[in-house]
Amino acid sequence: MDKFVIHGGKPLNGTLKISGAKNASLPLMAAALLAPGVHRIHNVPDLRDVSTMAHLLRIIGARVELHEHTMTIDSRDCSFYEAPYELVKTMRASVYVLGPLLARFGRARVSLPGGCAWGPRPVDLHILGMQRLGAQINLQDGYIEARAKELVGARITFPVASVGATGNVMMAAAMAKGKTIIEKAAREPEIVALAEYINAMGGRITGLGTDQIEIEGVSELKPVEFENIPDRIEAGTFLCAVALTGGEVTLTNLKSAHIGAVFDSLERAGFNLTVSPEKVSIQAKGRALPVDLRTAPFPGFPTDMQAQWISLMSLAAGSSGITDTIYTDRFTHVAELQRLGADIRVEGNTALVRGVDHLKGAPVMSTDLRASASLILAGLAAQGRTDLSRVYHIDRGYERIEEKLRSLGADISREDEPIVT
Ligand code: EPZ
Repeated sequence: MDKFVIHGGKPLNGTLKISGAKNASLPLMAAALLAPGVHRIHNVPDLRDVSTMAHLLRIIGARVELHEHTMTIDSRDCSFYEAPYELVKTMRASVYVLGPLLARFGRARVSLPGGCAWGPRPVDLHILGMQRLGAQINLQDGYIEARAKELVGARITFPVASVGATGNVMMAAAMAKGKTIIEKAAREPEIVALAEYINAMGGRITGLGTDQIEIEGVSELKPVEFENIPDRIEAGTFLCAVALTGGEVTLTNLKSAHIGAVFDSLERAGFNLTVSPEKVSIQAKGRALPVDLRTAPFPGFPTDMQAQWISLMSLAAGSSGITDTIYTDRFTHVAELQRLGADIRVEGNTALVRGVDHLKGAPVMSTDLRASASLILAGLAAQGRTDLSRVYHIDRGYERIEEKLRSLGADISREDEPIVT
């Protein structure tokens, strides 16, 4: 297992290209099952979660190659319709194959995902969507057993906006008989990208980016080339890193419209941003001003930036409250940040952060992807050395993060971590 060794206190300066979006590439890969043939998806990040999804598609029978960020998926010879527990338990997004498998084979056997580090993450809305489209669903031996002689368009009203359930229903409904309307659909850019990909294949989806999406079923879809969107959470993570350490950094190859809420919060915290459609520069010096926030579905402040924001606020000049309205218990990073000297108290789904003058490096442990990111950020700002263990969590969602940070002047290295028995 690897660990990161970070010596804090170095400002970050320079220019960095943002990688393709993890949370768009995963549904895009699953959607390639809808149209037998050779698909090419550009700007796909080289991440553990991407290779897990590639492995799942290979089990289903596709040929998958990632070469220099272009993914080629040949989905002609798919014949197997199962997503096994061994894979799904490592990556919840495996559930994205449920809709495409039902659409293509009329049946699917997908393991129920386990919980994750911060608690249960149900898939009841995915199941509700498939049932509304006419599938029979059985939950048996920890698996979702789904069958559908024919998928028929329906009106589906979700109680909460769910990124995954919206994506799964869009894929299942793309070739269903008739029209599907999704009410309280997710508006995230990753879902818009998925809809644009399906439309490029010949699909007929309208209402993209709104909370009401309409899908007119078509008889077949064709394989296409497609450009993945940039990773808005990677961009937000790096902006918070610069805000914490000071310096001047320009991020390129991003879509600024995808993370306006993060820009607004950084400006409220006193940082200067220069924003253009595909580039943003941040000039950071001095401490952040305290900024309260609540996470929300797009275009609100993303829950995937909540941990990074808490790290930034731990050194702010005052106290702030950060509430996660999406996941009420996504605070495993707090205990580790406290080991670095952060003054944080969690009450319900709110972290109350009292800014301290400095953090002090210490050994800390990753528990999940975004918690790891928040610990890297804190280590970059802390005095002295921070050892961050179990960095396989970070490799799931950030491509070569230590190399990118080093290119900006950070003192961070990846080292072998002896397994303590
Ligand atoms: C996606 O997860 C992202 N993952 C998550 O990013 C992100 O945190 C989340 O959306 C919210 O933005 C991918 O895109 C691969 P949801 P997803 O369905 O689709 C509840 C990261 O760090 N819900 O939008 O699983 C759920 O409990 C990951 O990159 C149900 O109740 O999230 C949550 O409270 C972590 N039943 C809310 O909806 C369901 O069937 C939003 O979840 C599905 C969801």
